[in-house]
Amino acid sequence: MTDDADTENAGARAAPVPRHVAIIMDGNGRWAEKRGQARHAGHRAGVNSVRSTIEVCIEHGVEVLTIFAFSSENWRRPKTEINLLMELFLTALQREVRRLQSNDIRLRVIGDIAAFPEKLQKRIRASEEATAGNRRMLLQVAANYGGRWDITQAARSLAAAAARGELDPADIDEAMLANATLLAGQPDPDLFIRTGGDQRISNFLLWHCAYTELYFTPVLWPDFDAAEMKRALLSFGGRQRRFGRTGAQVELED
Ligand code: IPE
Ligand code: IPE
Ligand code: MG
Repeated sequence: MTDDADTENAGARAAPVPRHVAIIMDGNGRWAEKRGQARHAGHRAGVNSVRSTIEVCIEHGVEVLTIFAFSSENWRRPKTEINLLMELFLTALQREVRRLQSNDIRLRVIGDIAAFPEKLQKRIRASEEATAGNRRMLLQVAANYGGRWDITQAARSLAAAAARGELDPADIDEAMLANATLLAGQPDPDLFIRTGGDQRISNFLLWHCAYTELYFTPVLWPDFDAAEMKRALLSFGGRQRRFGRTGAQVELED
């Protein structure tokens, strides 16, 4: 290597890696329909993409991966599809916990799980407990989650504290509200990915995505493999995050 190349390398910075990645795993139904299969075949195939995405995230040192599995609006789907999704969630938890253990991944489910069948609630709690000591990455599954619901329950808990006289409403600031949401204490998502071609947030992490980099891809979730996930990370690495400042200010500070 020449001296010049050495100097260049010393000056080169590794592309930034997102600490927190949030994903709307969309397009399962269309993937199956394209193949003349029932929609649930797409949901089942999507489990492989969850696995490969987790692997890429741990390889790159992502700290938190939050995936949208079932929105508060998905109850509007046909009952048969809802039931199949619940079954799939249950079997995936049963099958995947061992893999999470061996990869040192902690599982957490965020959302109003009281609406789920008792058996699924129990399985969720058992999987969370089994992986509670794991430290390499937090895998957060949003199930019966809605961004508006999260903000609403945060507001309700602060209001209740104020009504008990434990809190002066004048002291409520952004940090306090953030700490009352389900993502309290975590870095906000740095990268938001939505597969399936639609470019909307669908009531996912509304409070937390204020400054998140958005990445939309037409690739349907079951086709979103490790190479696609790496492409998303590469796109993130090339972006300049300004948080209100000018580009020149950011370049000086970095
Ligand atoms: C996302 O895939 C999975 C869930 C919402 C549970 P969809 O089921 O929404 O697939 P499309 O959008 O109909 O193709
Ligand atoms: C968002 O996908 C929810 C999940 C992926 C779990 P949807 O397919 O439900 O979103 P919309 O209804 O098309 O916006
Ligand atoms: Mg969809």
